[in-house]
Amino acid sequence: SEKVRVSDALSSKETGSNVRIQGWVRSVRPQKDNLFLHVNDGSSLQSLQVVASSHLNTRDLTFGCAVDITGTLEKSPSKRQNVELRARHIEVVGECNPVDFPFKIKERHSLEYVRQFPHLRCRTNAFSSLLRIRSEATTAIQSFFRDNGYVQIHTPVITSNDCEGAGELFQVEPAGHNDSDDPNPHFFSVPAYLTVSGQLHLEVMAGAFSAVYTFGPTFRAENSQSRRHLAEFYMVEAEIAFTESLDDLMKVMEGLFKAATEHVLSSCAEDVELFHKYIAPGHRDQVDLMLKRKFYVISYTEAIDILKSSSQNFTISTEWGCDLQTEHEKFLVKHCGNVPVFVINYPYELKPFYARDNQDQPNHTAAAVDLLVPGVGELCGGSLREERLELLSQRLSIVVIDRYLQLREFGSVPHGGFGMGFERYLQCILGLHNIKDVIPFARFSHSCLL
Ligand code: 4AD
Ligand code: MG
Repeated sequence: SEKVRVSDALSSKETGSNVRIQGWVRSVRPQKDNLFLHVNDGSSLQSLQVVASSHLNTRDLTFGCAVDITGTLEKSPSKRQNVELRARHIEVVGECNPVDFPFKIKERHSLEYVRQFPHLRCRTNAFSSLLRIRSEATTAIQSFFRDNGYVQIHTPVITSNDCEGAGELFQVEPAGHNDSDDPNPHFFSVPAYLTVSGQLHLEVMAGAFSAVYTFGPTFRAENSQSRRHLAEFYMVEAEIAFTESLDDLMKVMEGLFKAATEHVLSSCAEDVELFHKYIAPGHRDQVDLMLKRKFYVISYTEAIDILKSSSQNFTISTEWGCDLQTEHEKFLVKHCGNVPVFVINYPYELKPFYARDNQDQPNHTAAAVDLLVPGVGELCGGSLREERLELLSQRLSIVVIDRYLQLREFGSVPHGGFGMGFERYLQCILGLHNIKDVIPFARFSHSCLL
């Protein structure tokens, strides 16, 4: 018999073929002459119905066990599936004690509940759908950049820079290091950190390839239990040379969001529907609205005016110069009709050293942009970069990064880029409240399970 994936068996038009499937039992239903099983192997949300007549040894078949089954694909009498597998031989490869197994047959477990079992939650429908969507979204993002002529760069995980200058760095040093031996611990006597952003490395590469991107893990020593922060998250970052306006950057951000989302909606329709139907009912309309409408653009100064003239009482006051808080972001998105909003030209002092000085008065701003989206708030952050040596070196007098400065002397061009939080992107399109539910293994303050 030919080994097939469950998804292929389910879509097969031919009946009568002998096949072999391997997977995990999702339900067991004894009836008078037959035992009905559903077997899932992760290839799709749907499980394959297996019919086992009573002469087969079905004793150890329980919810959760691993099976290897050979039999014949037959047309199913049920309306819910085209085919079913009439078993000729069933082997229980790995037993599963239903008393100890944390998931119970026929129960729908909440996302909070399954989160306690990082080693087993991929066996639940919702989380396996999430992981298939996550995988497809990764492909969609890669395709977007490839189709638009970007070169993918593998930026390093270990780095000596604090790109964002926010001091949220995890330091790298050998395990068991004894501080008293070495006045300079760290990475073989030089300071080194887990990257907070690949931006500076991308800026180097944009200076040779024009358009580059990276997509990998980034780390923030953020002691936060918030529903949208992780200590390790995936970031998509793009950097584009010969870019003189934020408009060009915003076009790429909007294009990326829309192209990736269209791809996910069509290639993972069934998995996405599970979220839009059962977990975030009505969210599909929100997604369709985001795809259909052009994203709004407002300046930071306009945003402050909107917030000031609103009747809502914010816990943190809104004066020109303040950083936008989650509550402000939420309000602005609502105010714009629940469509994504770009906020541009932030106060110069709020943005990292690399942001390009707009040299304006009396409100001194930098050419920086954040994309705010419904339900999540900040999804992307980007800016034009300061390519002028004099201006950059003034600002870098405290944080000296020689090589970064030198880039401005050898064929420097106006350039810019942005980063999109991949988990926040998934939260946004699926309508998920907690970022811990969109990553295979969540790392956050005081938690590093498995
Ligand atoms: O706004 P951030 O800090 O921007 C940068 O790191 C730039 N250097 C990117 C660039 O221009 N190349 O981070 C970018 C995005 C945020 O908008 C947010 O979506 C996500 O990364 N992000 C986080 N996601 C999950 N957990 C955290 N702790 C995050 N911090 C940022
Ligand atoms: Mg930001």
